[in-house]
Amino acid sequence: MRSGGFAMSKYRIAWLPGDGIGNDVMEAARVVLDAVELDAEYVHGDIGWEFWCREGDALPVRTVHLLKTVDAALFGAVTSKPVKAAEAELAPELKRRGFTYRSPIVRMRQLFDLFVCLRPTKAYPGNPLNHKEGIDLVVFRENTEDLYAGVEFGPVPHELATTLKRLAPPFAPFADLPADEYAVSCKINTKRGSERIVRAAFEFAKLHGRRKVTVVHKANVVRATDGLFLEEARKVAKDFAQIQMDDANVDAVCMWLVKNPLAYDVLVAPNLYGDIISDLCAQMVGGLGFGCSGNIGQKLAVFEPTHGSAPKYAGQHKVNPIATILAAKMMLDWLGEREKAQRIELAVSEVIKDGWVRTYDMGGTGSTREMGKAIAAAVGETKPVGVGRR
Ligand SMILES: NC(=O)c1ccc[n+]([C@@H]2O[C@H](COP(=O)([O-])OP(=O)(O)OC[C@H]3O[C@@H](n4cnc5c(N)ncnc54)[C@H](O)[C@@H]3O)[C@@H](O)[C@H]2O)c1
Repeated sequence: MRSGGFAMSKYRIAWLPGDGIGNDVMEAARVVLDAVELDAEYVHGDIGWEFWCREGDALPVRTVHLLKTVDAALFGAVTSKPVKAAEAELAPELKRRGFTYRSPIVRMRQLFDLFVCLRPTKAYPGNPLNHKEGIDLVVFRENTEDLYAGVEFGPVPHELATTLKRLAPPFAPFADLPADEYAVSCKINTKRGSERIVRAAFEFAKLHGRRKVTVVHKANVVRATDGLFLEEARKVAKDFAQIQMDDANVDAVCMWLVKNPLAYDVLVAPNLYGDIISDLCAQMVGGLGFGCSGNIGQKLAVFEPTHGSAPKYAGQHKVNPIATILAAKMMLDWLGEREKAQRIELAVSEVIKDGWVRTYDMGGTGSTREMGKAIAAAVGETKPVGVGRR
């Protein structure tokens, strides 16, 4: 409980709906959080496209300050556009003043060192979108390094080209290209970054009685960086004798995940491979309406659905809020509110199995609000009324 002269809530949560359907799905998630009676103060934070256009910053400083004062954050979605398109939509008085669009979610990850991207993937029984029943995987994606470190060059500076020519024989075929004929993105993986994400995966496996951690890489080709990741993983595995570790190339994992998802349990990967396999996993259990994630650091965690702002559906209350409701459930787990988290998950599971409310992606006509209310009703152990019936 935070200090003050009057009764304060147990938790302070940053509430970041963002753009487009971010608002629709967050509204539904709030109905469910209220149904479990989480003792929380929800503090709205400005984030997204509107603030880029108006202020030149999609993550305004006041929101960064807010994030420093909260126990956790729930985030909807934002609209992002390539640099030139973003510049074109900037308020006229801000143009040509050196503002550069940067993704607010990537910035939150970097500013608060949210190094774990946790992506649970569960096939809830009866979901018509399940690739196979029984899938229950958890992906740990490293969230701050690798090809997403942001060290990129295009056009390539002469100094860099000269150095690469001198130090890296495989650079020879590119060495004489004009600077604007190619680009270089640096994949940077550290021992510390690799060690801590793999350790987080093993700790999770231990805590939740999982049997195996699969390390995903491409160390046979990308030898320096993925080799380092794999080596650190092998060291960490020695501290968890009761948990099996195996490793596999990312391409093979993609194929095997589709073929035999039940053979996997916890997967851990550097940033880019983690990004790819977690979307693949999400699609096996229902796609964007079901994919949720936690961006977790030592001091702050930001939970979100993995989908974007889907502008074409903005404000229509048509999309599936289950991903956001499951993100809220993850937030409760992280806060230590296990019983409430479990109640939400059971309610989601019951509504999916029951099938009375299904949003369009599940083949139904139910609205975002109807789905939120049905899950909230199931949380309160009241049968949902027959809205949005198939
Ligand atoms: N984390 C984020 O905030 C995030 C993630 C991805 C994309 N984006 C941004 O969102 C904007 C739109 O991107 P996009 O259209 O490529 O991806 P998107 O995820 O917003 O939507 C793609 C399509 O998926 C479906 N969809 C998405 N969410 C759904 C849900 N909850 N229920 C049912 N169907 C759903 C819709 O058909 C939608 O048109 C872009 O500006 C993009 O940069 C943001």
